[in-house]
Amino acid sequence: MTTKSQAVLNWIDERFPLTSSIKGHLTEYYAPKNFNFWYFFGSLALMVLVIQIVTGIFLVMHYKPDASLNAAGVPVAFASVEYIMRDVPGGWIIRYLHSTGASAFFIVVYLHMFRGLLYGSYRKPRELIWVFGTLIFLALMAEAFMGYLLPWGQMSYWGAQVIVNLFSAIPVIGPDLSLVIRGDYVVSDATLNRFFSFHVIAVPLVLIGLVAAHIIALHEVGSNNPDGIEIKKKKDSTGKPLDGIPFHPYYTVKDIVGVVVFLFVFSAVVFFAPEGGGYFLEFNNFIPADPLKTPPHIAPVWYFTPFYSILRAVTYPLFGLDAKFWGVVAMGASVVIIAFLPWLDRSPVKSIRYKGPIFKVVLTIFVICFFILGYLGVLPPTPGRTLVSQICSVLYFAFFLLMPWYSQLDKCKPEPERVNFK
Ligand code: HEM
Repeated sequence: MTTKSQAVLNWIDERFPLTSSIKGHLTEYYAPKNFNFWYFFGSLALMVLVIQIVTGIFLVMHYKPDASLNAAGVPVAFASVEYIMRDVPGGWIIRYLHSTGASAFFIVVYLHMFRGLLYGSYRKPRELIWVFGTLIFLALMAEAFMGYLLPWGQMSYWGAQVIVNLFSAIPVIGPDLSLVIRGDYVVSDATLNRFFSFHVIAVPLVLIGLVAAHIIALHEVGSNNPDGIEIKKKKDSTGKPLDGIPFHPYYTVKDIVGVVVFLFVFSAVVFFAPEGGGYFLEFNNFIPADPLKTPPHIAPVWYFTPFYSILRAVTYPLFGLDAKFWGVVAMGASVVIIAFLPWLDRSPVKSIRYKGPIFKVVLTIFVICFFILGYLGVLPPTPGRTLVSQICSVLYFAFFLLMPWYSQLDKCKPEPERVNFK
């Protein structure tokens, strides 16, 4: 570094912790040296968040949250999206990056969460990283749900109608609550305006704040790894973990590989299949919202369907409250229960590498049930499908609720002293 640039750096460091932050979070932040494929998804989630924010900023320049009809009899909001797609230079790619980005976000986050399950990354001392993560997941769901109303297509409109109506099943406060959410007695221009406001300002701010808290908590305790052992326990004479390597340059470079591979796949979808066969953008959503015409089959976007299936699986009233109410409770519980994992898992080891056969079988059943629930959620219900989703919902909850019992029962292998690359 030249004396001039060193002088500038000194000037900054006397006023702002620049060098110490770079050291603390990058060049002298020691991460376990055995990170594998599963460790790509945290940085990828961060990148998709940036893609969504940047493309969102450009979309807002042309999008209009207005449900009134234009001279051609088309809702202004719907027409503004068509305008972005057809007339704004580069508008089509910005829109498809954003709409495909939503599905990519959930794919990446689901894989990121699954890594946590595999390696017990939620266990002590990383409970708060996990709790912040679950809150991020909830905020992400709210963000995606409100964003989906904005194009004001048939699915936007009727999907929102169905989901907001669910809140009215809550005793006492339900009817007023759904009225507050809608801002009207039906989904209308008032709903579109408030969802727009939440989608572009409120929820992104919460998301960014939570992601910051997530990473601050992570850097406080350090990363877990595929062996699930604490690298801080074995340090050299200078105090550096023996199994740690500086995050920069080792993992910044490794993460770039992940980013490049991700961008290849993501671009292929954006350019060749942006609707994702009707899963990323539903075909009905290319029809303007019509409050007088209910589509024959209303289904949420794929990333909500496992939880939507759990909602529909509840078909019996209980304690004088109707099935719809208990369905909402079950759906809410199926997400909230994820936050409690750190206190449900009593296994003596963290990583699946050293857990016994019970956990491996139970996790496999859980994943299969999650996929079945997701698949059934996009289909119209039949008595047979409802029965299957009831069985899968019970198994979904059993995975969590029985964990304190089966995690102690399992025959685990001893953890190694040092990390390995098996
Ligand atoms: C916007 C969404 C998210 C972003 C940007 C994000 C970002 C990150 C990053 C950059 C890391 C460090 C790199 C890595 O370990 O892969 C990380 C670690 C972690 N995240 Fe997330 N995350 C998000 C959502 C979630 C969710 C929904 C959960 C769980 C409910 C979660 C749980 C964890 C855990 C437990 C770790 C520590 C993993 C370990 O040390 O093995 N994250 N996250």
